[in-house]
Amino acid sequence: MPDEGLALDTKFRLSGLLHSNMFLCSNSSKVERGFPGTGDALTSLAEGGEKITAIHLFSVKKIQSFSPVRADEIFRMVTKISGFASSDNKVVNLSKMVMAFGSTLICRIAFGKRYDDKGSEMRRFDELLHEAQLLWVDKLTGLIDRLETAFKNFDSFYQELIDEHLDPSRAKMMDGDGDILDILIQLKEHKSCSIDFNWDNIKALLMNIFIGASDTSAVSIIWTMTALIKAPKVMKKVQAEIRDLIGKKGKVDEDDLPKLLYLKAVIKETFRLYPPAPLLVPRETMERCILEGYEIQPKTVVYINAWAIARDPEYWKNPDEFLPDKFLNHNIDIKGQDFELIPFGSGRRICPGIFMGLTNVELVVANFLYSFDWELPPDIRAQYVDTDVLPGLAMHKKNPLLLLPNKIREEDEESEKAGCIPIGGRTTAR
Ligand code: HEM
Repeated sequence: MPDEGLALDTKFRLSGLLHSNMFLCSNSSKVERGFPGTGDALTSLAEGGEKITAIHLFSVKKIQSFSPVRADEIFRMVTKISGFASSDNKVVNLSKMVMAFGSTLICRIAFGKRYDDKGSEMRRFDELLHEAQLLWVDKLTGLIDRLETAFKNFDSFYQELIDEHLDPSRAKMMDGDGDILDILIQLKEHKSCSIDFNWDNIKALLMNIFIGASDTSAVSIIWTMTALIKAPKVMKKVQAEIRDLIGKKGKVDEDDLPKLLYLKAVIKETFRLYPPAPLLVPRETMERCILEGYEIQPKTVVYINAWAIARDPEYWKNPDEFLPDKFLNHNIDIKGQDFELIPFGSGRRICPGIFMGLTNVELVVANFLYSFDWELPPDIRAQYVDTDVLPGLAMHKKNPLLLLPNKIREEDEESEKAGCIPIGGRTTAR
């Protein structure tokens, strides 16, 4: 276990910095400040933001209420992949497929909208997201003009969604409290939460959720499949675990996940080697402290390199190798308590979407592995599959992951001809 210096905001007195993306709200005149309001108001909103996300948006109960949406999106994706599996050119650009899944899922959860993945709305959303990914570079490169334009675009995008949600004749796409924007509007209108917030604050929270949620789950799924295609024995072992448990049920459900211990080990090991957000949220020291003999002044911005910590040979044997079995005998958690592995961060700024993120990744990977046998395209050897990364907030695989899905049961083809809809590798009667 790393020493106390890494105990993020406990021993090493850090506060979450009001980093740009928390308050990227839109209003271009506030670009430098980030958000309307000053000092204490900002701090209280930041703390309020943590409470709102933790209590109202991402409680376990709320996350469970999004399960049908997640299951539906996974079903659609697996069905699409089945289409590739039955075609002559089987190659699937899994990166593209999974990224589209990530943005569609978050749009449905956050706004109750399903943008068609070929439609102009989806393209607009994807472009906005791409800009958001670049925004962090602004301070380094001075791309302020571009940043201001991006703010304006975000502002109108969010405003349209707010207006739609305020329309009393709008049909809700989700049961219960509705989507995330519905919940935020209820909190604002009914003042049912201790923090007083305005529309700009709601836009800032949406922005935070977007940046936090859309890419991270998708990136983790792509890295897991990349790691597995490079480690065929591990792939077989985890597939055997899943297929033994699920049998002929047709799909993996959320309830099955707690029993899939090897799958969890595989995903932990992927998070260790390829943490989707390697530098965490920037922090600021609150008081003078000494770290490894160095004196750190108050108000120093601190970046925590979760990637380097998770590959530190002092804490990990063979740190660069993908060896998930270590987690079967090792009780290391990834929820911010064990500092040698913090893919979701730790302390007050820990990822509030941790349970949603983990469920997304586990469920998609489980269904992929259950439904298909995966191969590399001819002439590509596993050792040549690259693990290069793109610069950006999230650690994206640089080159798309191209794989061949094979249905696992021959009779699928037969049943399809006989009028059954294939669901992944299994079949259900039409
Ligand atoms: C596998 C998926 C995910 C990973 C690996 C991940 C990782 C992270 C990390 C490392 C941080 C910074 C934590 C820190 O600095 O201590 C973070 C922050 C955040 N994440 Fe996630 N995340 C994931 C999914 C999600 C999802 C699904 C949501 C929302 C639906 C979400 C919302 C957020 C938000 C709002 C923040 C900012 C918190 C703050 O500034 O206080 N994340 N995430």
